[in-house]
Amino acid sequence: MTSLTVAQHALEIPRSGIRDVFDRADKVPDAISLCVGEPQDTAAPHIEQAACRAIYDGRTKYTNVLGVDDFRKAVHDYTLEVKGLDYDPDREIEAVDGATIGLFLALRTVVDPGSEVIIPSPFFTSYEADVLMCGATPVTVALKPENGMRLNAADIEAAVTSKTRAIIINSPGNPTGAVTSAQELGRIAEVCLRHGIWAISDEVYHPFVFEDGMEIAPSIASMPHMHDHTIVVDSLSKTFAMTGWRIGYILAPHDVIEVTGKLAEHMHSSVNSITQYAAVAALDGPRGHIRSMRREYARKRQIVIDELSGCSALRLMKPNGAFYAFVDIRPTGMGSQTFSRRLLSERHVAVVPGEAFGKEGAGFVRLSYAGDADELEEGVRRLRRFADDARDPSRSHAAAQDIEITA
Ligand SMILES: Cc1ncc(COP(=O)(O)O)c(C=O)c1O
Repeated sequence: MTSLTVAQHALEIPRSGIRDVFDRADKVPDAISLCVGEPQDTAAPHIEQAACRAIYDGRTKYTNVLGVDDFRKAVHDYTLEVKGLDYDPDREIEAVDGATIGLFLALRTVVDPGSEVIIPSPFFTSYEADVLMCGATPVTVALKPENGMRLNAADIEAAVTSKTRAIIINSPGNPTGAVTSAQELGRIAEVCLRHGIWAISDEVYHPFVFEDGMEIAPSIASMPHMHDHTIVVDSLSKTFAMTGWRIGYILAPHDVIEVTGKLAEHMHSSVNSITQYAAVAALDGPRGHIRSMRREYARKRQIVIDELSGCSALRLMKPNGAFYAFVDIRPTGMGSQTFSRRLLSERHVAVVPGEAFGKEGAGFVRLSYAGDADELEEGVRRLRRFADDARDPSRSHAAAQDIEITA
């Protein structure tokens, strides 16, 4: 009998570290999870109705691999109005099944085996795996706590070599919640232009910014000459609370879209037609839901800040975007894996250890404030007490009793 094996290259792709925490949290039925990276809401009713209409009207066939005309037109109009970016709907826009596949298609299109891709780290877990699946080398550049985990052009330029093909930009960032300023993105754009490097800009959190005077996170594609050097990857998952619908888009120069489209034909043929029509309703429709989610995130972000900012056992970097806080737990003396495991088993709160987002995340944990506000408040309170107790173990008996009362 022959024993069949799985391909070595596939075995070598790292598993997402987030799944470990989910698996462990599932075994603690009353755990408060501060892990989830998705909106608590579901899509607005007019979006659901548009999907139902598409089904009843029989608009359920394969579509153009780049997406139906209405979808690409809606992406064009939304992107122009919201981000001030102008992409030709016939040649420069492609529908994809979420940013996850968009990122892979983008990298697969511009990265050759053996080349290098710069990834500011800590990073969204798919980036490294995507680069490895292209046979390329991920080169991480540490985001610095003293710079609020924002991107820094000089650090990025120091990592450029003759093999560098692309840099992945993610602002607002997951897991850090950091938003990089337009000025710094301008400097990063100059690095890209100087060295002939693609910017792959993951903008899935673009409306969720909490900096004074900032309505929308700036895009590197809006910098001079960057239209032709950038592949924007965006989706409706977070913005329109449509994570399970699987719909996103790539914005890029025509030469790139021609190739991403060719690859996509072999990968998915076309994106779910019903979802595309629902997305048209989302992109063309009222924006009240986005505004209300943003207000809610701002309120929940404040809960995290109020609870953690006075805590000497933790250091909170004020998150300015997305719905994550990245917390420095080094003053507790614990590593982030231990911190996360013990917090779950002793206080029933799940957070993601920073290493799940690259080795540069060591010493931090990520918490998401996308979920229920009351659970968040209780979870963050327990997190704080746990950290305080770790610094001063004499407090821990009283704290454990508190949990029993409030759990
Ligand atoms: C930074 C970032 N990019 C991409 C994605 C994936 O988005 P999508 O649901 O559109 O595939 C996520 C999901 O958490 C994310 O945090």
